[in-house]
Amino acid sequence: MSTNVLVIGGGQNAEHEVSLASAAAVGSALRSGGFAVTAVTIARDGTWIQEGVALGAGAAGSLAAAVALIDRVDVVFPAVHGALGEDGALAALCALAHTPVVGSGSGAGAIGMDKWVTKLVADAVGIRTAPGIAISVDEIDDLEFDEDVVVKPVSAGSSYGVTLVRDAAQLRSALRTAAEYDRRILVERVMRGREIDVAVMRDADGTVWAPPPLEIHAEGLFDTAAKYDGSARFTVPAELSDVDRRALTEAALTMFDALGCAGVARMDFFLTEDGPVLNEVNTMPGMTAASQVPRMFQAAGVAYPELVARLVHSAVVPALTPVVR
Ligand SMILES: Nc1ncnc2c1ncn2[C@@H]1O[C@H](COP(=O)(O)OP(=O)(O)O)[C@@H](O)[C@H]1O
Ligand SMILES: [Mg+2]
Repeated sequence: MSTNVLVIGGGQNAEHEVSLASAAAVGSALRSGGFAVTAVTIARDGTWIQEGVALGAGAAGSLAAAVALIDRVDVVFPAVHGALGEDGALAALCALAHTPVVGSGSGAGAIGMDKWVTKLVADAVGIRTAPGIAISVDEIDDLEFDEDVVVKPVSAGSSYGVTLVRDAAQLRSALRTAAEYDRRILVERVMRGREIDVAVMRDADGTVWAPPPLEIHAEGLFDTAAKYDGSARFTVPAELSDVDRRALTEAALTMFDALGCAGVARMDFFLTEDGPVLNEVNTMPGMTAASQVPRMFQAAGVAYPELVARLVHSAVVPALTPVVR
């Protein structure tokens, strides 16, 4: 009997299309690996859709039918980036239904999705992040800065709402752009350094490990256009000294552990003159074969179909299953 996997894509945030691409790639790789795949999409309005047909009326009505689907499969693979997906919402739904789910539980997902709380956790375990402040949209008009800053939503992804502000006149519009994605906004010091991503995976036997890091070559910000127009250039394995590679990998493993992540997570760093500075944590990173995480595992000898199969095998019911050490 093959393992039945429910792959969820789409979602109710700006990363809807990105999540469709991740889910499509995961689904077809699992099918080719012999898994029985059921694919569902969450529309932007929250309606769950299977093969073009709504599972029920609206968000709540179709969710009720989706719960029955979740109950019928062996494992859920929620390839939904951002709010109401990666933030732990889908992991929580599976936990309540006692169905094993790929990736982090709701706690780690929620913290990883919050760039401010991620800073607090990183700080507590001795990992540097960009100095910054979090403000609410109500404070937009009171803010002044006399240095270059990066303005971004506390909770978003795919670089939506992120602006590098080089001149004070741009600050207000950057804050308003960020406010389109979240009521809370981060204003950060600009970090100078190479951008290096580190993937971390917890296998079914509890082993936690990291494939070789990847370097992103972007002109200025790694913005939404550069992420998806094919212009981004990656080097994997990144060319790193042993000291830098060890420091980056250690920091990534420490963060994975501190948040209590599961499945796979991608920890993104700036490699500065003073060593690694954590930028952000992605608990459901981009998962097409061309995305950073699959490229890093490929560099470790784990091809894409094997990666997604291993993730399915690593699935647990969050909170019900003790972490294997
Ligand atoms: N403090 C910072 N200093 C310099 N560049 C930054 C800073 N914060 C973000 N960036 C740039 O903006 C990009 C997107 O920001 P990020 O926080 O990763 O948002 P997202 O979750 O949307 O990917 C980063 O990949 C990086 O290129
Ligand atoms: Mg990012």
